[in-house]
Amino acid sequence: MAFLVTGGCGFVGCNLAAELLRRGEEVVIVDNFTRPGTPLNYAWLQTLGKFDFFHGDVRNSQDLEVIFRDKKIDCVFHLAGQVAMTTSLANPRRDFEVNVLGSINVLEAVRLHAPDATVVYASSNKVYGELDEATLEEKPTRWEPTGKKGIDEHARLEFYTPYGCSKGAADQYMLEYARNFGVNSVVFRHSTIYGGRQISTFDQGWVGWFCQQAMQTRDNPDHTFTVNGDGKQVRDLLHVSDAVACYLAAHEHREQARGQAFNIGGGYENSLSLRELFLHLQKELGVTMKPHQLPWRANDQKYFVADNSKALQHIHWSPKKTKEAGIADSIAWEFERRRG
Ligand SMILES: NC(=O)c1ccc[n+]([C@@H]2O[C@H](COP(=O)([O-])OP(=O)(O)OC[C@H]3O[C@@H](n4cnc5c(N)ncnc54)[C@H](O)[C@@H]3O)[C@@H](O)[C@H]2O)c1
Repeated sequence: MAFLVTGGCGFVGCNLAAELLRRGEEVVIVDNFTRPGTPLNYAWLQTLGKFDFFHGDVRNSQDLEVIFRDKKIDCVFHLAGQVAMTTSLANPRRDFEVNVLGSINVLEAVRLHAPDATVVYASSNKVYGELDEATLEEKPTRWEPTGKKGIDEHARLEFYTPYGCSKGAADQYMLEYARNFGVNSVVFRHSTIYGGRQISTFDQGWVGWFCQQAMQTRDNPDHTFTVNGDGKQVRDLLHVSDAVACYLAAHEHREQARGQAFNIGGGYENSLSLRELFLHLQKELGVTMKPHQLPWRANDQKYFVADNSKALQHIHWSPKKTKEAGIADSIAWEFERRRG
């Protein structure tokens, strides 16, 4: 009985595959290496144990067929994806094909070849649009809701940007395949996942990206970088070790989780605005960061913090890593990458 990790050489995927290998599980990975840095994660995984690797593309149903015919798949962690909102605006067709067609291909492979398998899908907070119905107060370093702090799964679905549409469509297909075809699918809606082995870029993986900017400021105090919006936008940080635990919990508790969507994040106590991250990094690295403000990104939420109560109730999961410990991990990882 094997675990298939699509996108298993990406950030979340390789951390999940590493934990499965540590537990002695049979691991199968499919990845097409489109994300820069993925061959490094592949090489790292090879140092941890034996696994089956398919250099394939989830857009191609035959690539998945080959795997499902060859292996007895017990669980799919579907993490392969087009991951950036900005890229989805530049190439909406590709975004659609990877996220929607790729997800349908995964679901069809499960329906036809492994109907008892669990499928856990990494969806996004972007399925909730701008969330502009909540009343927010402007504080010196952040936007803060006047009402409840956590956003639960009853928030209105609203798909903005091609990325929001493609993640949202795949999210809904996952739930539909549970309803109509009996697939054991589970949806996690995340905002920010961060930690070791993330190859952050300016448009995806903001915690790692700003850790890099702080380190470059340490090398050159005149270093400047850009920030979209006022820097007061807030997200709850989910450390990748907690994300891994959550995916494993979904499979373990699949009876209670199947057919359900869960908001999964670090929770209010692990929430941070961009400005607050800069203040923290300045203290940790002894630098003065010089952000240069750009206009807001399309449909950026000013505030997203997950209410994790449903996940606690159904799959007995809650985040454990504090944001301080997690950011220390991200800094250490960025230093390790620099050393090569
Ligand atoms: N990291 C976050 O903060 C975050 C937040 C919300 C949702 N998510 C979702 O979680 C999942 C994993 O995110 P991540 O941060 O690990 O991203 P990542 O880019 O590091 O990993 C994605 C992996 O998928 C692979 N891939 C891309 N297109 C593929 C294709 N067509 N066929 C096969 N492989 C393909 C890439 O090479 C990469 O290894 C994604 O679906 C993402 O949208 C991540």
